[in-house]
Amino acid sequence: MPTKTIDQIPVDGLRVLVRVDFNVPMQDGRITDDRRIRSAIPTINSILDRGGSVVLMSHMGRPKGEGYEASFSLEPIALHLATLLGRSVGFPSRDCVDEAAATAVQSLKPGGVLLLENLRFHKAEQKGDPYFAEKIAAYGDAYVNDAFGTCHRPDASMVAVPQAMAGKPRVAGLLVEREIAFLSEAVANPKRPMVVILGGAKVSSKIGAIEHLLPKCDAMLIGGAMAYTFMRALGQPTGTSLVEEEHIPTAERALAAAREAGVELLLPIDHVVADRLNHGSPTRVESQIPDDALGVDIGPETATQFAGRIEGAQSALWNGPLGIFEWPGADGGTRAVAQALAKATKAGATTIVGGGDSAAALDAMGLAADMTHVSTGGGASVEMLEGKRFEAIEVLDQIG
Ligand code: 3PG
Repeated sequence: MPTKTIDQIPVDGLRVLVRVDFNVPMQDGRITDDRRIRSAIPTINSILDRGGSVVLMSHMGRPKGEGYEASFSLEPIALHLATLLGRSVGFPSRDCVDEAAATAVQSLKPGGVLLLENLRFHKAEQKGDPYFAEKIAAYGDAYVNDAFGTCHRPDASMVAVPQAMAGKPRVAGLLVEREIAFLSEAVANPKRPMVVILGGAKVSSKIGAIEHLLPKCDAMLIGGAMAYTFMRALGQPTGTSLVEEEHIPTAERALAAAREAGVELLLPIDHVVADRLNHGSPTRVESQIPDDALGVDIGPETATQFAGRIEGAQSALWNGPLGIFEWPGADGGTRAVAQALAKATKAGATTIVGGGDSAAALDAMGLAADMTHVSTGGGASVEMLEGKRFEAIEVLDQIG
């Protein structure tokens, strides 16, 4: 059943409690990637434009849970959000449930926005504590989950707060709606041919997604270090590359499942290798990985082959870099895949990118805007691609 969304409920005069995921990367107090903040703006504006006020709440990082820690404060985010929204954003207190926070919430007027301090300054947040949840629930006349990146967590603000607000509207935000549309619905009924491109270091972190996606796609292209475990399963040389020995049988099962389902599973046919896993080590192209070298990227022939498959697709889903993207000389595979996806989008294909590393690579190449959808979820997007159900979504009001 589809989940009700914020644009389907009246909010005039309501104080709407919105769970967002403002867990953004920071360096020396500066936000280095604000995609998650920008992505929450349509929901915030949808409420403000229709006469509501907005109480935002989020976690950031993994503080100890024993009170305020300056390095995990959301205060810089309130300032940045105010700039993006073009209006002031209140930041009442160093504690999301103290008197100052409660008073600021009570005095919020229609059109007002405030951001509570990091929920994880209380251990109760990650414990799903119902007493803590009740205090937060008292802040809102309606609840919105727009924190896609946190939807796989049963934290208090994700599950116990909406539970404590039974009888009031509890809906999905526009970001969560969009993420579900692309990472769940578009994957369940893809336009064919559908190509899945998987990279990243470990088979173990993607096996659920491989098993869920294999029957839905026409081709699966595997790069990144996870390819070396597959190559070992096929008896191919992998030199000193990262291989998850304990997952060789998992790779064997996936290869057998692909054969059975008639899905083309492509592995690298050439490799960029280095002698050592040191940032910036010199690289070279080899058709087979030598005994004393390790793979750091798919080779140029593989990149051309992968790009060809992507450009012929009607839908494409990408998760995980194809090589060590940060290394000069080991970024070609990731770049070729991103460029092929951009071309496919222009030709009318639906292109979906999940996972923080792939999104960061797209940003670095200036290609993010050329994708149909770039997910804000890390772990959440992988779990959605595994077909998992999220309690944080199921607790919301459904249509019908
Ligand atoms: C994420 O970045 O994956 C989410 O914000 C969840 O954060 P967590 O892994 O610390 O729960």
